[in-house]
Parts: sequence; structure tokens; C-alpha cells
Amino acid sequence: MSSDNIWTHKGTFLLAAVGSAVGLGNLWRFPYLVGEHGGGAFLLVYALCVFAIGVPILIAEIMLGRNSRRCPIMGMRFLTRCHKTSRAWEIIGWLGGVSALLILSFYSVISGWAIHYLGEMLTGSLRGADAATLASDFASLISSPIKLTLYHTLFLVICAYIVARGVHRGLESGLRLLMPTLLVILLVVLFYAAAAGDMLAASDFLLSFSLSDLSLEGWLVALGQSFFTLSLGMGAIMAYGAYMPSETSLTLTAFTVALIDTLVAILAGLAIFALVFGAGLSPDEGPGLMFVSLPLAFTAMPSGALIGAIFFVLVLGAAVSSAISLIEPVAAYLVERFSLSRVTAVLVVVGVAWALGLATVASFNLWAEQSPFHDLFGRSAFEVLELTTHITLPFCGLLIALFAGWSLTQTESMKEMHTRAGWLSLWRFLVRFIAPTGVAFVFLRALPYVEGYWLPAIVAIVTVGAFAAYRTLGEHEGHHGG
Ligand code: PFF
Repeated sequence: MSSDNIWTHKGTFLLAAVGSAVGLGNLWRFPYLVGEHGGGAFLLVYALCVFAIGVPILIAEIMLGRNSRRCPIMGMRFLTRCHKTSRAWEIIGWLGGVSALLILSFYSVISGWAIHYLGEMLTGSLRGADAATLASDFASLISSPIKLTLYHTLFLVICAYIVARGVHRGLESGLRLLMPTLLVILLVVLFYAAAAGDMLAASDFLLSFSLSDLSLEGWLVALGQSFFTLSLGMGAIMAYGAYMPSETSLTLTAFTVALIDTLVAILAGLAIFALVFGAGLSPDEGPGLMFVSLPLAFTAMPSGALIGAIFFVLVLGAAVSSAISLIEPVAAYLVERFSLSRVTAVLVVVGVAWALGLATVASFNLWAEQSPFHDLFGRSAFEVLELTTHITLPFCGLLIALFAGWSLTQTESMKEMHTRAGWLSLWRFLVRFIAPTGVAFVFLRALPYVEGYWLPAIVAIVTVGAFAAYRTLGEHEGHHGG
């Protein structure tokens, strides 16, 4: 990779990783998951997953990217050669690339809904609307393939424009403008929610803690969410890591990304629930929380349409900064492997994601009841694609943890992390044992045919244990450094 593909500033990786991490996962998914899984106890479990499992894998993924200085697919090929490990590890790059395309395809359709609501808020067409009107507005949006396709296309065009302009003029400049603006908007919405909504009820709901709310299902959802929100297992972080200057601290950066991401999720949750409670609505509306309850809350409040418009700019900006990180790893592969121009590569990636996205569009209307996906998998295209989030991401994250934990030697990891020996040992322990076990558990639980919790738990522990024993034995025989 040419040296001009290094971020110009030390802090740009942080900006880019936060941009990738903060997205619909924080603003749309996190609040409704908290709502569905009982508030404060879920939050605690979620934070534990983010810091004990997510952060070690985040460090591992950045490390692989920076160590190889290549796109994820070529990077994994390079690393397997350097470390004389099986070429099968290349699957990390391939699986990441495929997941990125699939996720981009439906992420863009959902992000398109924010464009619709931004328009509704700006034109004031929902002013004074009641719950039934908002519900039917949402229903008419998702039942129109034309509207959905239009918004989906518009969203992808915006993202493609940014990525096609290159690492510096596109990604870096775009993120430098976008991220501070989003922070300001989040604060504006938060202050507004504190003034016009019911912040007390929101903080009570989000932060009050009851042990009996801690279900095992909640743990699993929390772990899955921590993966999605930190953008792990998709090559996005690895691709951005490849542009990270060598002297930037890995540990500090990874912690900061996780901290900001969690903080944004909590602040957005507080703002959203304050508005929802303030309008006397229920917090457990599921995915409709942002697109039905929240607009309803905005219509009922002073200057609600203006703040609503600002809020949907936030959603859109956060979604764009995440989606560009899904385009980058695959586009970078096409450039590195086939010497395509960046513009052509981006057009290919976005074109494929656009076409795949049509299946998600149709799953809300033309294919709502019957489709080839129903015939094959018994669920809609959107649900099938979303399932990839629950299967391929944890699986890829598991492989990343194992590869970084077991194939990189202590010296190499130290060279990348340049941290204290104690931290390095803690990271290696987490990435070798704890993260793989936790992730394997979630991964197996997510397989549709696995019932109950104990079976996946046992299989996860035994598999990781056997793998660890095998590798440790290998090390003693002098095959692998440790
Ligand atoms: N982290 C993003 C969110 O929370 O919305 C979603 C995402 C973006 C996942 C990029 C994965 C990724 F590579």
C-alpha cells in the first residue's frame, strides 16, 4: 500500500472508527433493545460485553490491519504467509467482505427511512398528527417499493461520493466535518429533550437496576449488539486500521472508541426516552420506536418539527459515517487486487449493495408474505440478511480473536501495542480465551436450530478449550511463538 494511504493525523483513525461505530446501532437499535430487555440491568451487561469482549477484539482487528497495511482480504493473505499459518485464515477477509456487502444492502434501506422522516419534519407535513396517522404514514412508506428504492439509492449515492473521493479527500475530510457536527446535534437534542421531555423518567428507566431483569437472553442480545455497534468482524476496522500511523496507541484508541460509542448510545437513549415518556408514550415499541413513537413525540412538542429535522440529520449522518466504512474494505480490495480505479471500485461495490438492497425493499411490500426467501429459509429477505449479523459477525470476530491471540507472537503483539507487559498479558488472555468463548456461545445460540442455552455454552467452551490445548501443545513443541 502506498504511504500516502496513511491517515494524515494521528487522531483520524479515532474519528473514523467512532464514525463507523456510531450509527443506527446506537440511535435506533440500542434504545429499543434496552426498552425490550428491561433497562439498567441490560445496560450493565452490555457495558461488560463491550469492554471485556468487544475491546480486546477491536484491538485485535486494528492490529491485523495495521500489521499488514493492506485491505482485509489481501492483508489476511499476507499475514498467513508471514506467520506460516494455514491459508484457511484468509476466510476472515472474505467473510468480512461478504458480510459488509450484505449489511450495507439493508443498512442503506433502513437509513433511507431517516431521509423520509427528515423530509416530513422539514415540510411540517406531520404537524399535529396523532398516533394513528403516524402509524399509517410509516406503513405507507414501507409498503411503497418506489419510495424505499428512491431513498435507498439516494443514501448509497451520498456514501459512494464520499468514498470515491479517496482516503484523504473523501473519508478524512468527510469525517472531519461530519463527526463534530453530529456531536453538536446530539447535545442540542439532549438539551431539548431535557427541557421538553421527561428526563427523570428516562434516566430512571435506563439507569435503574434490577437483578431480576437480567435474563440470559438479555446477555446474548447484549453481546450481539456490542459486536454490531463496534463494527467488529466485517473488515471495516481492519481496513481503517491499515491506514493508522504506527505510533498511535492501539489500546488507548480502542478504549476511547468503545467509551465514546457507549456514551453516545446512552445519551441518545436518554434523549429518545425523555421525549417518548414526555409525550406519554410507551418505551417498548421495538423497531418502531424511532420511526413512529419519536416523530409522534416531536409533533406534540414546541418547535418539535425543527428539532425532529435536526434529529434525523443526526441519524442520517451517523448512518453515512458507518456505511462508508462498509464500502471501504471491499472497494480497497478491488483497487489492490485488480488495480481498478477507486471510482470504478466504489461503483462496483455500491452497485452490488444496491441490487441486493432491492430484496430488502421488497421484503416490506411485494415479498412481505411470499418470496423465494420464504420458500428457502421460511423468513423474509430482510430477516435472512439481518440474520447474517447474528451469525457471520460473531464468527468472524471469533476467528480474528483466535488468529491475533494465537498466531501473532508476544513480541509482534508488543511491537504493535507498545504497552506495559501486564496489559499485553491481560489482552492476550482475553483474546485467547474469554472473547472466543463468549462469542462462540452467542454464535451457536444464534443458529436457528439450536434450542436452549446449555448446549451452545458447553460446545463453545469445549471447542475453545480444545483449540487452546492444541495450540499450547504446538507451542511447547516449538511450532509457534507465544
Ligand atoms: N456500528 C454500526 C452501527 O452501530 O450502526 C453498524 C456497522 C457499521 C456495523 C460498519 C459494521 C460495520 F462494519
